[in-house]
Amino acid sequence: MGAETPAIEMRNIVKRFPGVIANDHVTFTARAGEVHALLGENGAGKTTLMNILYGLYHPDEGDIYVHGRRVTIHSPRDAIALGIGMVHQHFMLVHSHTVAENAVLGLAGTPFLRPAQSVREQIVALSERYRWHINPDAYIWQLSAGEQQRVEILKALLRGARVLILDEPTSMLTPGEARQLFAVMRQMAAEGRTVIFISHKLEEVMEVSDRVTVLRRGRVVGTVATRDTSPHELARMMVGREVLFRLEKKPVQRGEVVLRLEGVTALNDLNLPALKEVSLDVHAGEIVGIAGVAGNGQKELVEVITGLRPVIQGRIFLDGEEITNRDARFIGKRGVAHVPEDRVHMGVVPNLSVAENLILKYYDTPSFARGWFLDLQAVTTFAQQKVKEYQIRTPTVHTPVKLLSGGNIQRLILARELAFQPRLVVAAHPTSGLDVGAMEHVRQLLLRQREEGAAILLVSEDLDEVLELSDRVAVMFGGRIVGVVDASEADVEAIGAMMAGLNTTAEAAA
Ligand SMILES: Nc1ncnc2c1ncn2[C@@H]1O[C@H](COP(=O)(O)OP(=O)(O)OP(=O)(O)O)[C@@H](O)[C@H]1O
Ligand SMILES: [Mg+2]
Repeated sequence: MGAETPAIEMRNIVKRFPGVIANDHVTFTARAGEVHALLGENGAGKTTLMNILYGLYHPDEGDIYVHGRRVTIHSPRDAIALGIGMVHQHFMLVHSHTVAENAVLGLAGTPFLRPAQSVREQIVALSERYRWHINPDAYIWQLSAGEQQRVEILKALLRGARVLILDEPTSMLTPGEARQLFAVMRQMAAEGRTVIFISHKLEEVMEVSDRVTVLRRGRVVGTVATRDTSPHELARMMVGREVLFRLEKKPVQRGEVVLRLEGVTALNDLNLPALKEVSLDVHAGEIVGIAGVAGNGQKELVEVITGLRPVIQGRIFLDGEEITNRDARFIGKRGVAHVPEDRVHMGVVPNLSVAENLILKYYDTPSFARGWFLDLQAVTTFAQQKVKEYQIRTPTVHTPVKLLSGGNIQRLILARELAFQPRLVVAAHPTSGLDVGAMEHVRQLLLRQREEGAAILLVSEDLDEVLELSDRVAVMFGGRIVGVVDASEADVEAIGAMMAGLNTTAEAAA
């Protein structure tokens, strides 16, 4: 094996951005026939390294070899010609066109609007080979996130990708879809391709990869064979210290009702019923976890509470005051913190600075106002303190948020939302996309809010997370709460069955 020429060899890659060295003499090697995981804290430089390989960025220093031949990759077009494909976290498909039309977009020698029969045949053949069930004539807007991802992979394969880079591909997949993706990744490796897999989920890395390279602050910590390592060791390599996998959850006396939903019904974006007569109480000092497979009303539940979606029937109360159909600003002012699911579009204003984003909800409060103007000194001091407290990795507090890595944007949102003792925290997937160290930090923050008497509604697809943090677990299925159980005596099997809509006989919603 040692003598074999690697499929990809990146040597001493350096990439600097203003104020940061994103890649600091990174040497990375991936073989044909392997799934190679790339692991590292938020901002460690994973996406940057892969963007360089895909020709989106140019390295300041270093060399790249593809199958032993030194290459210069100026653009994705060059990368594709070298057999390198990349699927980004945010897909780049044209929604108003079909699968086949998207697949030929940019493919040399094919008319876009009437994809040649041969391309359709290739799509069908690939779809069969990987058991994807993709209809070449379906429109992109009709497809789920998981299906769109398959189209992205299919696009790369049609262009002859021998090396496929997947940047956090499971972050928007259901557990079932993730399992199917892993099977496809293994199959591609068996065909002699190279799959480079970026993920924060250690169990996924352990399950699907052959080798793992860990980055920390732009440098390579090491490359290990997956079978010779453990989640603990990987976490330690990533973070540079021991990571707690068990959290200390102090007993907290549950207080008065903070949030009350009474028979709340709401529609989704397609005007179909998405929430059906949901009733639920969340008390001070309590975390109520919402378990469920994505698409069963969780998103709409969060939106009606935070004032982002109309309630068509039923009522919502906060500390006894009715807030049904009040706007997000009103509700925010009443002490409701919201950690949104879609961070980049709803959580921040990407072109504004870290400091401006940190005070986004508070710019008119006395702490930051000086007459009609912002007290810039107070804003900067506040921002610097939050950057330190929440370990937000940014060159300065004046850096635009769009230049931060995904995980660091999430830390910023939490820093802002938890800044002024919220009464209610509505947290949607608060740890998704976070590295293990940051995940531990966020979980501790939520527990601290609980100890300080906030009411917390936690929506997460990670059932382990829900069970570990929550006092009570409410299971959603088909827009309804189909059961509420005490987390301490929760039976994972029973919750799983309820999530699948199999057992709705558990204790009725409180
Ligand atoms: N276009 C850019 N301009 C300036 N800085 C950038 C740019 N792209 C990335 N960075 C910075 O480079 C560093 C590495 O970012 P990168 O996105 O590669 O991290 P990552 O390991 O993918 O993190 P995450 O797990 O959060 O996605 C970060 O500090 C980030 O803020
Ligand atoms: Mg990244």
